Amino acid sequence: FRQLALAGKTALVTAGPTYEPIDPVRFIGNHSSGKMGFALANALYLQGAAVQLVSGPTALQPAYEGIELIRVQTAQQMYEACISAFPAAAIAVMSAAVADYRPVEAAPEKIKKTGSGMELQLVKTPDILQSLGSLKQPHQFVAGFALETTNETEHAMQKLRNKNADMIVLNSLRNKEAGFGVDTNAITIFDKDGGTTTHGVMPKDAVAAVIVEHIIQKLYAPKV
Ligand code: C5P
Repeated sequence: FRQLALAGKTALVTAGPTYEPIDPVRFIGNHSSGKMGFALANALYLQGAAVQLVSGPTALQPAYEGIELIRVQTAQQMYEACISAFPAAAIAVMSAAVADYRPVEAAPEKIKKTGSGMELQLVKTPDILQSLGSLKQPHQFVAGFALETTNETEHAMQKLRNKNADMIVLNSLRNKEAGFGVDTNAITIFDKDGGTTTHGVMPKDAVAAVIVEHIIQKLYAPKV
């Protein structure tokens, strides 16, 4: 009888979009379904990890009751949930499509339309992956995602360095069976040590299992 690879370890996962309120009825958001993040939470749980899943608005439920789900709306709320959970985590996988900007302030009442145009002033949201990367201790493994349309490899490598991540998973957008909303994905994994691994189109559950397998290998690899 062998123990599951992640028994005794805690994993923190982010999933879904964030909604940044403009007024009580409107928000800035995106089309992320949360499927990849929920699949990752399930895969980590199946390897024995205690999983905390911080998710923006989605229609999904984790596959297992043991997964602790923390639902949030905004990037700031996701950031705060992650900052408080991260110290206990051995693994953090940031797969949420966090809004990069939010309105400076949400109007307290519904904004009425006028005859002319309108301007919305935006400010940057906190970069959660980068924040965890900068707080990261040697025993912690931090993974992020990249979704690029140009110079994919260069941007993924930059993200690895700039955010002090251990691994970046690049979603290939060259394939209509990969990315937002669909049940399949095609990825390339970029490691801190310079390694790259490409996988063809697979169901998101299988992609999640491959990513978790990769994390386990790196987590237990002898440090050089
Ligand atoms: O910089 P970019 O948004 O392309 O990086 C994507 C990666 O960073 C993803 O892992 C995403 O979850 C994470 N991210 C984050 N907080 C943000 C923006 C992105 O954690 N505010």
